[in-house]
Amino acid sequence: MWGLLLALAAFAPAVGVGVGAPSTSVLGLAPPATTGAPISTPAPRSSPAQPPAEKNNGTSEQHVQFRIIKKKKIVMKKRKKLIRPRPLVTDRPPVTTSPAETLDLPEKQEPGCPPLGLESLRVTDNQLEASSSQSFGLGPHRGRLNIQSGLEDGDLYDGAWCAEEQDAEPWFQVDATHPTRFSGVITQGRNSIWRYDWVTSYKVQFSNDSRTWWGSRNRSSGMDAVFPANSDPETPVLNLLPEPQVARFIRLLPQTWLEGGTSCLRAEILACPVSGGQSDKAGWAGYNLHCECTLPHELNSPPDPNDLFPEAPALGSLDPLDFRHHNYKAMRKLMKQVNEQCPNITRVYSIGKSHQGLKLYVMEMSDQPGEHELGEPEVRYVAGMHGNEALGRELLLLLMQFLCREFLRGDPRVTRLLTETRIHLLPSMNPDGYETAFRRVGRLAQGPPCPFLPGARSLLGLNKPLPWQGSELVGWAEGRWNKQGIDLNHNFADLNTPLWEAEDDGLVPDTVPNHHLPLPAYYTLPNATVSILGAVAEATVGALVSVSRHSSPAPVQVAPETRAVIDWMERIPFVLSANLHGGELVVSYPFDMTRTPWAARELTPTPDDTVFRWLSTVYAGTNRVMQDPDRRPCHNQDFSLHGNVINGADWHTVPGSMNDFSYLHTNCFEVTVELSCDKFPHENELPQEWENNKDALLTYLEQVRMGIAGVVRDKDTELGIADAVIAVDGINHDVTTAWGGDYWRLLTPGDYMVTASAEGYHTVTRNCRVTFEEGPVPCNFRLTKTPKQRLRELLAAGAKVPPDLRRRLERLRGQKD
Ligand SMILES: *[C@@H]1O[C@H](CO)[C@@H](O)[C@H](O)[C@H]1NC(C)=O
Ligand SMILES: *[C@@H]1O[C@H](CO)[C@@H](O)[C@H](O)[C@H]1NC(C)=O
Ligand SMILES: *[C@@H]1O[C@H](CO)[C@@H](O)[C@H](O)[C@H]1NC(C)=O
Ligand SMILES: *[C@@H]1O[C@H](CO)[C@@H](O)[C@H](O)[C@H]1NC(C)=O
Ligand SMILES: *[C@@H]1O[C@H](CO)[C@@H](O)[C@H](O)[C@H]1NC(C)=O
Ligand SMILES: [Zn+2]
Repeated sequence: MWGLLLALAAFAPAVGVGVGAPSTSVLGLAPPATTGAPISTPAPRSSPAQPPAEKNNGTSEQHVQFRIIKKKKIVMKKRKKLIRPRPLVTDRPPVTTSPAETLDLPEKQEPGCPPLGLESLRVTDNQLEASSSQSFGLGPHRGRLNIQSGLEDGDLYDGAWCAEEQDAEPWFQVDATHPTRFSGVITQGRNSIWRYDWVTSYKVQFSNDSRTWWGSRNRSSGMDAVFPANSDPETPVLNLLPEPQVARFIRLLPQTWLEGGTSCLRAEILACPVSGGQSDKAGWAGYNLHCECTLPHELNSPPDPNDLFPEAPALGSLDPLDFRHHNYKAMRKLMKQVNEQCPNITRVYSIGKSHQGLKLYVMEMSDQPGEHELGEPEVRYVAGMHGNEALGRELLLLLMQFLCREFLRGDPRVTRLLTETRIHLLPSMNPDGYETAFRRVGRLAQGPPCPFLPGARSLLGLNKPLPWQGSELVGWAEGRWNKQGIDLNHNFADLNTPLWEAEDDGLVPDTVPNHHLPLPAYYTLPNATVSILGAVAEATVGALVSVSRHSSPAPVQVAPETRAVIDWMERIPFVLSANLHGGELVVSYPFDMTRTPWAARELTPTPDDTVFRWLSTVYAGTNRVMQDPDRRPCHNQDFSLHGNVINGADWHTVPGSMNDFSYLHTNCFEVTVELSCDKFPHENELPQEWENNKDALLTYLEQVRMGIAGVVRDKDTELGIADAVIAVDGINHDVTTAWGGDYWRLLTPGDYMVTASAEGYHTVTRNCRVTFEEGPVPCNFRLTKTPKQRLRELLAAGAKVPPDLRRRLERLRGQKD
């Protein structure tokens, strides 16, 4: 997810961004260093006050300073005899008191169950209830882990559930809709730029009918257990229940909260389904379903007649793929396996290394791996640019397994795709960031083995550790950046500014080309740095701490990951790409950067707007969740009102984005896909997410057939002409031919005047019609050399040309080319 655009909005001078922030104010969000002294909350919501200010000394230099606070480590309650979670390393004193010595857990402490789905929206709004709420925007349906508020408070999309101030006994309730084994609770405070609110302790109650309630007991005292909760707005705090409880309803009852604030929280509930009629001996019953949930045969098994409470429908996919999260090593292994399974259509290669030295692996899939075939377009998917947005990575790993498998089975659609295109999949552009996020989740990943189920999950191996992986404890931002703290989506060279300046001076396309803008000289230096403005713009609440206009920007280096991708883009004649992110559900298309300097957001279409809107609409229209007209918005914007597509700059400006760079520096059209509300979905959501995106991923790649394609050749020799320019009348953006003279020009249906030109040749223009039929429409060119070029070649070959002939030739054709 792109995060909350708070920075540019706040320091944009004179653009009138109505964010209610005083234009010179500092956006301060530093969580308190300790919990000992509660901070009093800032002024009332109605008048967003100066947030806790620091360093604002009122100068007016046009610079920005920002500081990213390292996310606090999670505070996990350690427990006696609980083998699973290793104590978390903290680089600061623990901020909540640990009940380690006091909670007397049963010997057979059940490990964590998967999340019920407050974050992923699997739990619907009407399953959430509360004793009271301050406003609709702070209603119980907003009490979801990691939900993000908008820039302002007091609208429909605030960042938590908050009880009314006068509510003396607040509660927040989740209806699981069927009997469920509750095993833990994760809470966060309120996401807001303007206020601090979090709950510091709560009790937990259960019910089967929402009338009679029983509490979670403290085994040593026999009293209601009081769970220590949060000490800052963002860090998720997990409490495992002393004893898991089977019930339908669970309530959190805040007991204490930040002084001066109100009772506000965002939560996730850990819960295992309970199979009716089955024994739950050893406490493992709840896991069976979890382990099985990806099994084809389980999905088809008849319902248990003794089951009084029918199970929630199993989330699943019929494709027998490896639905797990893969860290670097596991990813590498999986790619190797796919390569071994489908040696004829795959090739694994690396495009470079991360800062930490992890390789950026690419899976290439095509009928002639390793070769660019004349006329065959190259397409790519890039995922994991933000390391904590893990779904794209897994989807690409699933896609490669799927393509391999379906190719072996002879599926005609997949076979055609692999025969007609060369597909490159980069699952992890930022492996360092992913490892950071994964380690946090991975700590909880050492569950007990799955119960033995004959035939179950045989593809994946039996008795493997029960996974417990998801973003539940990663928070919203950890792992986003690379190891150097660089946001890779602001790290590409800004080619928009030079292009637009040249356009303003009337130089495009005659003096300055409208395509393949060169890397600025500074950017090619080994010590090159880029402006950090963009990095600030996209930083998320909880990570961004202060922005002021007063000190020099800390320069941000060009990351090795960025350089590797740029080299890759320059090496391969890509035509179409998507950049997979997470944390929202929307497809955004270039430009990502606003044309008006300093504008926080502004519609900034490319000359190829129609094509880009079509490409985005294709993905959004085939993604199952985006297709749902009744889906609720993820965070604070309802993209479904506009077909789930948006111009990137109209959302929030991102200078130095990969999409803009790809469009301006290469032939490749790239959009950004925000795949899901949850950045790091739990493993048991992966089959569903695969089904949500499978068709979209295939259909999007097939769009490379849209438009015209052909080869530009020398009329005499029939050889392809590299770097010939293909211009389309009315579209101020040209593409060029690859080294074999082949080109692809994505276009929507219509009649186009297409011109091919190359140095030393007469240009040729012809009409090409793109229809609604599947293309691409062939549109070939044969160019004849100019006399001047023939002369040059003659001279180069050592021929003596009589001076008068030379003069005549030059007079005839001199200015023509
Ligand atoms: C503003 O702050 C900067 C850095 O903190 C300092 O160098 C400068 O003297 C301050 N200016 C004023 C007017 O306080
Ligand atoms: C359990 O009780 C002990 C004292 O009896 C107390 O110190 C501890 O904080 C309690 N834990 C919870 C979770 O209520
Ligand atoms: C609640 O329902 C579950 C499942 O039917 C049952 O096992 C449990 O005993 C019930 N608890 C109470 C207190 O009624
Ligand atoms: C790969 O191609 C070779 C030669 O065409 C063929 O014999 C072999 O069966 C193919 N292997 C697979 C896994 O498709
Ligand atoms: C980067 O290197 C160049 C050439 O080595 C040097 O002139 C320039 O000052 C350096 N820039 C920075 C910011 O270090
Ligand atoms: Zn992202």
